[in-house]
Amino acid sequence: MMKIAPSVLTADFARLGDEVVAAAKAGADYMHLDVMDGVFVPNMSFGQDIIKCLRPLTDITFDVHLMIVEPERYIDEYLKAGADILTFHYESTERHDEIIDRIHAAGVRAGMVIKPKTPVSVLERFAEKLDLILIMSVEPGFGGQSFMPESLEKLRQARALIEKTGREIDLEIDGGIKSHNIGLVAEAGANVAVVGSAVYNGGDYVENIRALRAAAGK
Ligand code: DX5
Ligand code: ZN
Repeated sequence: MMKIAPSVLTADFARLGDEVVAAAKAGADYMHLDVMDGVFVPNMSFGQDIIKCLRPLTDITFDVHLMIVEPERYIDEYLKAGADILTFHYESTERHDEIIDRIHAAGVRAGMVIKPKTPVSVLERFAEKLDLILIMSVEPGFGGQSFMPESLEKLRQARALIEKTGREIDLEIDGGIKSHNIGLVAEAGANVAVVGSAVYNGGDYVENIRALRAAAGK
């Protein structure tokens, strides 16, 4: 079954709490929280204090996607703020093992994410320790961009890598996911789909999530 992880990036930030609760009630599996620092990506969103405020509003799994330089400086803040899955960019640090170990020491699931130009092979030496692999299907920074079809091959490679480990690792895809392509990413091996604009920008959230799940075909 495809998990749906709405991203609040394109929601109404003045009503962030309501928007998170609404998606959770509408049947979302994870809440995907996009953290941007204006340096790693050319945009800013929100940080740990906002996540801390959202945490008491819902029990839904908080899937935090850090798009920040030197995440080792801030991961303790995000762990304290209530992340259930904490995912950082391969390209953003040189201290990968230390970060994964610190996330695990807090009892939180650790994820690693790669940008569109980064090959899946960089994940090989971490796969044994990861709980989630995230493949970006747009250049990170903004919601509402178009899905890059070359990410389908990367999903297939990442799924093969996961199978080699024999471990249960979520394979998540992020960027441009809509009803017309969610079936393709499911076929290529993704089991978690981040969906921003296709959940939040128009229509009823229950119906949007239901339609995405149905289109995933599994
Ligand atoms: C991009 C973010 C995504 C994005 C998803 O940097 O990581 O989560 O907002 O939004 P859509 O589904 O609109 O591409
Ligand atoms: Zn994201």
